[in-house]
Amino acid sequence: MRTKDISMVAMMMAIIIVLGMIPPIPLGFIPVPIVLQNLGIMLAGIVLGAKRGGLAVALFLILVAVGMPFLSGGSGGFSVFLGPTTGYLIGWFISAILIGLGQEKFMTTKNWGIKFLIVALPGVLLVDLLGSIGLSIVTGMNLSAAIISSAVFIPGDTLKVILVIIIAERLLKVIYRKERVV
Ligand code: BTN
Repeated sequence: MRTKDISMVAMMMAIIIVLGMIPPIPLGFIPVPIVLQNLGIMLAGIVLGAKRGGLAVALFLILVAVGMPFLSGGSGGFSVFLGPTTGYLIGWFISAILIGLGQEKFMTTKNWGIKFLIVALPGVLLVDLLGSIGLSIVTGMNLSAAIISSAVFIPGDTLKVILVIIIAERLLKVIYRKERVV
């Protein structure tokens, strides 16, 4: 990995950590808050691609696992991987890789629908599905109820996808000094 790659991975980890400083919004009916941090996860995949984006998210999650209070609301420690949000955290890692793979495959597309699907399918649908499965396993909640409850995140997360695409277009122009991906 070149120095530029290492700095970009570090920059993306910093963005994810800073987004975690924005307080989460708790929801009474489900032990999973609304957060802004998943915007950084999606951004990692689309801006850095599968390998570097996956690495940035993996390193971020390792820091959380060893106790750094980098998740929204200042939580961290291995126990979060045994808690109600564990499925979402696993989904974050997988989604960064899948978004990165999509980005690499459709690098030059100008089609907004394709860009949207590249980010939204893994970043919203897959994450919410894995999150619901984790939530159901950890809390004993019925899986259908967990999936239905998780649907509350879809409108906000869809808005994040749109922001991610807009931010990524600008960031990529700055980073690569030419229009490259989304
Ligand atoms: C944590 O801080 O422990 C992880 C929180 C996971 C929140 C998930 S990510 C997808 C969905 N969208 C949100 O705004 N919240 C949930």
